[in-house]
Amino acid sequence: MSQSSADRFEEIVTFAKRKGFVYAGSEIYGGLANTWDFGDKGVKMLRNIRELWRKKLVLERPDMLELDASIFMNSRVWEASGHIASFADVLVDDKNTKHRFRADHLVEEQLGIDVEGKSSEEITKFIHENNLINPLTKKPGDWTEARTMNLMFETNRDKIGRDPAQTIYLRPETAQAIFVDFKNILQTERPKLPFGVAQIGKAFRNEITPGNFLFRVVEFEQMEIEYFIREEQWQEKFEEWLALEKSFLFETLGIKPENIREIEHAAEKLSHYSKRTVDLEYQYPFGFKELWGLAYRTDFDLHAHKAHSGQNIDYINDDGSKYMPHVIEPSIGLGRLFLAILCDAYVEEMVENETRIVLKVVPEVAPFRAAVLPLMKKDGLGEKARELWLSLKKQGFGIDYDEAGSIGKRYRRQDENGTPWCITLDYDTLNDNTVTVRNRDTMIQARVALTDIAHYIINTPL
Ligand code: GAP
Repeated sequence: MSQSSADRFEEIVTFAKRKGFVYAGSEIYGGLANTWDFGDKGVKMLRNIRELWRKKLVLERPDMLELDASIFMNSRVWEASGHIASFADVLVDDKNTKHRFRADHLVEEQLGIDVEGKSSEEITKFIHENNLINPLTKKPGDWTEARTMNLMFETNRDKIGRDPAQTIYLRPETAQAIFVDFKNILQTERPKLPFGVAQIGKAFRNEITPGNFLFRVVEFEQMEIEYFIREEQWQEKFEEWLALEKSFLFETLGIKPENIREIEHAAEKLSHYSKRTVDLEYQYPFGFKELWGLAYRTDFDLHAHKAHSGQNIDYINDDGSKYMPHVIEPSIGLGRLFLAILCDAYVEEMVENETRIVLKVVPEVAPFRAAVLPLMKKDGLGEKARELWLSLKKQGFGIDYDEAGSIGKRYRRQDENGTPWCITLDYDTLNDNTVTVRNRDTMIQARVALTDIAHYIINTPL
């Protein structure tokens, strides 16, 4: 990361914490590395993003169902899916410093060698023979052997016996439950191919090198879809979903197209279940990184669960014959998307010789659609403003209220919150029931009748 990108990233992280979008997890106890809590504005923004995803990719479509499954699942699910056998990364420790790294990343970054598919022994040889540098100390490390580590968090229901048969896992993806519940979904909903099932929920991964704020964490929320198709439709449906993902990012969320690139996985790098994968990467300050994965998983998962469970989970065609559907999977992490939006929208600009920080998110994503600001608290202005605030809140928008400090300072605070509209009540309001409405981006003000205000803040383009 260049110095200016590192500085920009630092500024964005500091901003998110200072404004209470995100708090460091367990902070008063010294924290817990790579855990983050979302504060009031963060929660509101996450909810807006989540609901837009549901609206555009699920609710507005004629072919989508939803699921909300348990985080804990029978451990045989993870045997069938291949996670117990192969959901692992190779790690290596520097004995001098106890720093831990992804061994494949060290070799790739320092030797330019792709070690995908190589054994731990081969990777160890590369590291030891080439005296690789510890990237944190910039000196050669005293490296352990490289070894694989499964990324699933284990826990145990039987605290006394710790019977390994009782080992259960925190799910590392939400996707599997959709396959596991496929039989129930067919029986209760009777969907016709093609159709999709969407699920939003927490997933957990014991990442070897978490970091970059919300980008790689051990607990995160996924928004996943399994879109079931006939095999011959896969290319057409793959392209459709890719186009939909892009339109969601650009048109619905307002992300700048130049900050997104499409990366096609090379055949030898595909996951065990995938025949084609395309990642949409976002240009974070620390480089282009995966934001949204789109995979054609064939019928791998349904077959695996059929074989391991011994249950008949086939789809039944209209003529009564059985069919095992194939599947296209768009999968995105909500925290990564939140971070991409934050990076995309965070702007520092000079206004009257002062730096103005503005979060230029689309109104549908902003934590507050508007803020109500009485010019003064006295003379009944405070009461009238609170009345307006509560009535707008009842109409279902996030609306902020601020009566502290000069009006200029309050505008700046709302610019940082990303609030599209500031509604100011002044002495004229008491006479003519009009208010001043300030546009976040242009800072231009208009006089609007109180009776029109709800309509104005929903329908006026920024
Ligand atoms: N069901 C497929 C699946 O889970 P993945 O590429 O491993 O595929 C999908 O994960 C998405 O989940 C990623 O594109 C990313 O947005 C998000 N994600 C994965 N690991 C993450 C982590 N450790 N922290 C935050 N988000 C993560």
